[in-house]
Amino acid sequence: MSLPPGFIDDLRTRLSISDVVGRKVMWDSRKSNQGKGDFWAPCPFHQEKSASFHVDDRKGFYYCFGCHAKGDAISFVRETENVSFMEAVQILAGEAGMPMPAQDPRAQEKTDRRTLLADVMEQAVQWHRLQLKTGAAAEARDYLERRGLSEEAQARWDIGFAPDRGGILAQLTGKGVDKSLVLEAGLAAESDRGGAPYDRFRGRIIFPIRDARGRAIGLGGRAMAADARAKYLNSPETPLFDKGRSLYNHGPAREAAGKGQPLIVAEGYMDVIALSEAGFTSCVAPLGTAITEDQLRMMWRIAPEPIIALDGDTAGLRAAMRVIDIALPLLEAGQSLRFALMPEGMDPDDLIKQKGASAMQALLDQAIPMVQLLWRRETEGKVFDSPERKAGLDKALREKIKLIQDPSIRSHYGEAIKEMRWGLFRPKKAQYVPGKRQAFTKGDPWRNQMSPVASNKSSALGAGAAKTEHLREAVILATLIATPAVIVTFEAQVERMDCFDPDHALLRDAILRHAEAEDVKAAIFDEIGADPLEKLFSQTHVKISPAVRRAGDIEVASMCLGEELGKLAAKRGHDRELRDGMEEMLGHVDESLTWRLSQAAKSIDTSVRQETDDTADYVKVENGSMLNKDERSAFGKLLENMQNARPGKGTGS
Ligand code: UTP
Ligand code: MN
Repeated sequence: MSLPPGFIDDLRTRLSISDVVGRKVMWDSRKSNQGKGDFWAPCPFHQEKSASFHVDDRKGFYYCFGCHAKGDAISFVRETENVSFMEAVQILAGEAGMPMPAQDPRAQEKTDRRTLLADVMEQAVQWHRLQLKTGAAAEARDYLERRGLSEEAQARWDIGFAPDRGGILAQLTGKGVDKSLVLEAGLAAESDRGGAPYDRFRGRIIFPIRDARGRAIGLGGRAMAADARAKYLNSPETPLFDKGRSLYNHGPAREAAGKGQPLIVAEGYMDVIALSEAGFTSCVAPLGTAITEDQLRMMWRIAPEPIIALDGDTAGLRAAMRVIDIALPLLEAGQSLRFALMPEGMDPDDLIKQKGASAMQALLDQAIPMVQLLWRRETEGKVFDSPERKAGLDKALREKIKLIQDPSIRSHYGEAIKEMRWGLFRPKKAQYVPGKRQAFTKGDPWRNQMSPVASNKSSALGAGAAKTEHLREAVILATLIATPAVIVTFEAQVERMDCFDPDHALLRDAILRHAEAEDVKAAIFDEIGADPLEKLFSQTHVKISPAVRRAGDIEVASMCLGEELGKLAAKRGHDRELRDGMEEMLGHVDESLTWRLSQAAKSIDTSVRQETDDTADYVKVENGSMLNKDERSAFGKLLENMQNARPGKGTGS
C-alpha cells in the first residue's frame, strides 16, 4: 500500500509522542518539565534505573542518552511492538482518528476478495477443530497424544481433524458459501478429469497456518499412517497463501522476539510447536519448501540473527548450505545467521522429547556462525594434498565471499576464512602426514561441527601469525579473569575483539556477560564448564604473564590489556587493510588505496618494533620475526604490483 504525500507528516503532527511513549514508560516527574514538552523516563530499550530517556514532545522525537536509541512515534511503535512501518502507521492512525487512505478500486476489490477468503479459511479452521472431538477422530486424538500434544497445546495451535468423508466442501457450501470461494481458498480441488470437486484434506490432522496478523491463510495436513503417500499435504498457493512469503507461527514469533527471545528457524510444523511448548516461543518454519530469500528477509525483520536449527541429517546439511547461498548476498551489518546443528537423525521436536529443553538450549548456545559452516562445506571430506587442490579451495571460497555485498562483512569473512585456512594448510610437522586425509570426517555430517578451528587445533596454531594472535587473546582473557575489576574499563575493546579460537570466543562472551558478578571466574565456570578455563590457564605464557601472576593488581592488568588489545587491533587492522587492498586491486587502483596500505604497513611495523622491545616472557615463545618478515615481503610485493598496475605506469602504456 502506498500513502498519499503528507499523510505521515499529518499523522506526526496529530500525535503526541509523549502519549505514545507514555504508555510504555513511567515519567520521572522530578526531571520532567511537562509544561515545556520535556519528558524523562528510564529507557524502555535498555535496563536502567536512572532516567536517561528523553522525549521532546514538541519536536516529536525521543533520544536515550544511555543506549542512544532515537526516533519518532512511528519508530517507537515499530520497536516496542516489533511491527513493520506500515503496521505502526496503521496503529497510530487508528489512535489519532485518521482513516487510512482509500486504495484504488481494483485493489479494494482484491482486498475484499481476500477478506472473504480469509473468512472462509477461518471457518474451515474452526470446523476442523470441532471434528477433532468426534468419534471419527479417535485415531487422530490417539496420534496427537502419542506425540505428546496435550489438549491445551492442541487448543493453542488450533489443531483439527479432516474426516475421510463429508468434509469441508459440503460443510461450507451447505452454509451458503460459494463453491468458487472454497476452491479458491484451496480447501477443495477439481479433479483433472473434470469430475466433481472434492475435499483436499481427508483423514489428516490439520495445522492452521496464519499470517503475521493472525489471519488463517492455509492449512497443513499430516497423515497419521507412517507409510502414507504424502506425510504432509499443504494448501496450494492461493491469493492468501504465498508459501515463499509466509512463515509458520510468524505472529507469535515476532512478538516473542520483540521481548528479546532469539528467533529459531526450524524445518517443520511439529518442530515449531515442540519448541514453543518448551518455552522457545520465538520460532518459525518455512512451509514445506526450502527457505526463500523473501523468508530470510522476513526473519531478519523479526530478529537480527536468526538461528537456523536444521535436522541432523544430510538433507538438513544440504538445506543449511542452500540457506547460506541465499543469505550471503543479503548480509548486512547486524544481520546475519547462526546454525544450530541437531544431533544426527534428530529434529528439534525429537531432541526436546528425548533430552529436554536444556539440551535444546545447549545446542542453541553453541550455534555456529555462518562462516564456519561455509568453510565446512568446502573442506569436508576433501583432501588438499596438491597445490591444484588448494588453489581450487581458495577459488571456491573466494567466489563465495565475493557474493557478500557489504564490504565490511566481506572483509571479516575473508579474515575468518584465512584463519581457518592456516589451520588446514600449515599443520605442525608432527601431525601432518602428506597425502593423509585431514580430520574432516565423512559419514556423520555434523561431526566436529562446533569448531572446525578447534578440531584442527594444533595445526591451526602452528603458524606464526595465528600463534602470536592466539597468545595475545589468551593473555587478554586470562588477565580479565584474574583482575575482573578492569573488565568494565576495557569492555568496548573486548567486545570488538574477534577470537578465532572458539574456546576464546566462549570465554570472551562469558566474561562480558558476568562482568559484574561477585566471583567472575566462578560464574564463567558455572556457565561454560571447566575445560576452556583450564585450557587457558594451563598455557605457559599465560601462567608466567605478569598480569596473571599478580592477579588483582589493577595497574598491571590495565597496562597489560592496553598493550595487548592495542597490538591485536593493530595486527588485525593491518590484515584487513591488506586484504581489502588485494580485493580492490583486482578492480581499480588509486592513490588513496596506496596511502591506506602504506599506513597499514607503518602500523604493523611499529607493532613489530614494539614486540622486539618487549620483555614479557610470552613473546619469546612466538616465531614472530620470521612471520613478520614474510608478511612484510608479501606486502612489499603487493605494493610493487600495485605500482605497476597503476594507469600510466603499466606495461601497456
Ligand atoms: P519433516 O518431515 O521434518 O516434518 O518435514 P516434521 O514437522 O518433523 O514432521 P513430523 O515430526 O514427522 O510430524 C518438514 C516440513 O516439510 C514439509 C512440512 O512443512 C514439514 O513440516 N513437508 C514434509 C511437506 O510439505 N510434505 C511432506 O510430505 C513432508
Ligand atoms: Mn519431526
